[in-house]
Amino acid sequence: MKGSEDMFDASLLKDKVILITGGGTGLGRAMGERFLELGARLAITSRREEVLAKAAAEMGGEVFYKSCDVRDPQQIAEMVSAVEQHYGRIDVLINNAAGNFASPTENLSPRAVDAVLNIVLHGTFYTTLEVGKRWIEQGGGGTMLNIVTSYASTGSAFVVPSAAAKAGVLALTRSLAVEWARHGIRQVAIAPGLFPTDGAWSRLAPTPELSEKLLNRVPLRRVGEKDELANLAAYLISDYAGYINGEVVTIDGGEWLQGAGQFNDLLEVTEEQWVGLAEMTRKGKS
Ligand code: HXC
Ligand code: NAP
Repeated sequence: MKGSEDMFDASLLKDKVILITGGGTGLGRAMGERFLELGARLAITSRREEVLAKAAAEMGGEVFYKSCDVRDPQQIAEMVSAVEQHYGRIDVLINNAAGNFASPTENLSPRAVDAVLNIVLHGTFYTTLEVGKRWIEQGGGGTMLNIVTSYASTGSAFVVPSAAAKAGVLALTRSLAVEWARHGIRQVAIAPGLFPTDGAWSRLAPTPELSEKLLNRVPLRRVGEKDELANLAAYLISDYAGYINGEVVTIDGGEWLQGAGQFNDLLEVTEEQWVGLAEMTRKGKS
């Protein structure tokens, strides 16, 4: 995505200090790599230090890393202090860390529910609070981007702790968009559809059959490319999106709408079948 064909000026995010939770893998890493190309200074965090170290070495720019479990407010405070000490400030927080797996809800233990809620809802809330309090005290403002999912708005069977937690994160986004705007803090969210990453696919689509089933739900008949999401994120955290506050942008090839429209399953009707159906529906008219 480099060079004269790039959709963005290479200085779009120049000198912005961006902290990404879950930034060593998958979509977090893809966003980080793109932000570096656009001039950002990057900090990444997650639980596994070895994953962060490897990513930082490979991502292609200045990357500060410190391990942290977002379920633990004390670890978050230490991590945020370390980033501020390294770069002097933080301009953008990307709440991207998450946990998820597919399971019939009645099979879940309370610990299984907590495993997801604690990472996604509590972890996002704690990190938001730690960074937000500092921004308010420092008086400079900043931008928070929360990565949710398309089913944060609709709910979804078989990933119910994730759906409940992401819905909570969406409410957090919209609530603070109003409450913290007076402090110069802007809130935005991205709701991705299907983006095959090791983390998501190993837990949600571990067989080719399941993967195919998911793909068939997408009107564009393809999964998303990480660069497509990274470019959207780059725009939303840039100064050009300065008037977008409290909005969630869905990037899913039309997937959730295909599930929503009452007659959308008629996509399966063949042209031949339509000929017969047309006769019947015309008869119904007279
Ligand atoms: C049922 C499960 C389970 C499963 C774990 N548990 N996996 N129950 N089905 N597949 C239960 C365990 O039995 C245990 O309960 C409890 O959950 C906690 O398990 P731990 O392994 O101790 O949890 P922990 O180490 O905290 O790990 C959290 C995790 C793990 C969420 C379970 O998968 C993880 O670390 N994930 C991080 C990365 C990730 O999930 N990425 C995908 C994001 S994709 P008991 O009662 O037995 O002790 C996404 C949206 C995707 O979010 C949408 C795509 C289309
Ligand atoms: P991923 O690679 O598994 O990313 C999850 C990241 O969160 C990992 O880097 C993980 O690192 C980190 N993490 C998990 N628990 C943590 C904790 N307690 N503390 C700190 N970090 C933690 O999966 P992904 O697909 O890139 O997902 C990224 C984001 O996109 C998530 O918010 C996910 O819900 C969202 N999303 C993805 C898709 C998709 O199709 N891929 C669709 C919709 C939404 P450690 O294990 O090292 O902690």
